[in-house]
Amino acid sequence: MTRARTQVVIVGAGPAGLLLGQLLLREGIDAVVLERRSAEYVLGRIRAGVLEQGTVDVLDRVGVSARLHKEGLVHDGVEIGFKGARHRIAFNELVGKAVTVYGQTEMTRDLMEARAASGGVSVYEAEDVALHDWSGPSPRVTYRKNGVTHEIACDFIAGCDGYHGICRASVPAKQYQVFEREYPFGWLGVLADVPPPWSELIYANSERGFALASLRSPTRVRCYVQCGLDERVEDWSDARFWDEFRRRIGEEIADRVVTAPSIEKSIAPLRSFVVEPLRFGRLFLAGDAAHIVPPTGAKGLNLAVSDVSYLHESLRDYYREPGERPLNQYSPRCLRRIWKAERFSWWMTRQLHGFPGDAFAKRMQETELEYLFESRAAQTSLAENYVGLPLNLQ
Ligand code: FAD
Ligand code: PHB
Repeated sequence: MTRARTQVVIVGAGPAGLLLGQLLLREGIDAVVLERRSAEYVLGRIRAGVLEQGTVDVLDRVGVSARLHKEGLVHDGVEIGFKGARHRIAFNELVGKAVTVYGQTEMTRDLMEARAASGGVSVYEAEDVALHDWSGPSPRVTYRKNGVTHEIACDFIAGCDGYHGICRASVPAKQYQVFEREYPFGWLGVLADVPPPWSELIYANSERGFALASLRSPTRVRCYVQCGLDERVEDWSDARFWDEFRRRIGEEIADRVVTAPSIEKSIAPLRSFVVEPLRFGRLFLAGDAAHIVPPTGAKGLNLAVSDVSYLHESLRDYYREPGERPLNQYSPRCLRRIWKAERFSWWMTRQLHGFPGDAFAKRMQETELEYLFESRAAQTSLAENYVGLPLNLQ
């Protein structure tokens, strides 16, 4: 077994783990990133696409935004499709802000490259990562690589290892509370190289269920349709997907959709999930390891960014003046923001998806959406939440 020491072991090289690594590096805090998968695998996962201004600001801060500013698409609004019409929510006019469309994959690639350039240590294909003594002052993390076991002693462990990770699973269930809601549907997503015939995202509530028209670039679309939880990707040929998408997205767009073979196609179940607290002694949970939002509000990736921004501030303050106070602030500070994002994502999900067999829900949805289209106050609320609440970084 080899032995090493660092200040922070970061488990997981998704956006949360990689960004935390860069934030800590700027403060002169040493960290090692341990990732179970290969770098290529991590980059192959197609996920979120919308960045809040606060997220862009954090990427600016760590100097990882040059390509984002060149290739990212600034969007001043989104459209809601309902009963054959499209209604625009004009972010810029309502709240003076915008969002940036830039794929999570691209953001992850930029962070990976920045980490490699700065000489930060990342271990990919680290097997059997295990946490030890995290409740006390001298935690350790072990893992295996190429048949050799390694141990890293550290001051803190950052659990950035997603919903299925080892960090939350290492904490006895009686030490935290889980808040959870599962939805009776998932999203089937397709990525394809065709110019999008829409200029802004369209969230469509149709009689056949939800559809989302999104994009990654002027030549690449990302589209989703609501599907059953028992459905399999193999049952959805490209032709079937595009046919269903066209039926849901509204006639005007449907007529202009040019289809192409999918580059990627996957199904994600929708759930809301929060654990409280986020800190257990010297172990901190951040990003999807601590909470999941249904993707309808485009909040998952942005929350991962706000968590690690707060975590880096707690650790920075601790190293400046060791004590419990900055460490204690992490969980409540994150949770205030997490619950606001959970509320918004839950609201968007409820207003836009089909809930078969629930006639009351359908009427409430119609009433809520009609109110939204008539009320500037309701549109302002949607805009404020979608573009993101202030991060208040210190
Ligand atoms: P992750 O991106 O999950 O990264 C965690 C990392 O930890 C992974 O690389 C994983 O391999 C690694 N890991 C796990 N276990 C271990 C271990 N034992 N040891 C070492 N490493 C480990 N959000 C949106 O806003 N819009 C979307 O359309 C959208 N689509 C999504 C689709 C799917 C299928 C999923 C799962 C999520 C989606 N999200 C979406 C949410 C968004 O992508 C996440 O919120 C975001 O990826 C969170 O980043 P993270 O770094 O916390 O977690
Ligand atoms: C995406 O482009 O993948 C995307 C955009 C907005 C969402 C969810 C996903 O709400």
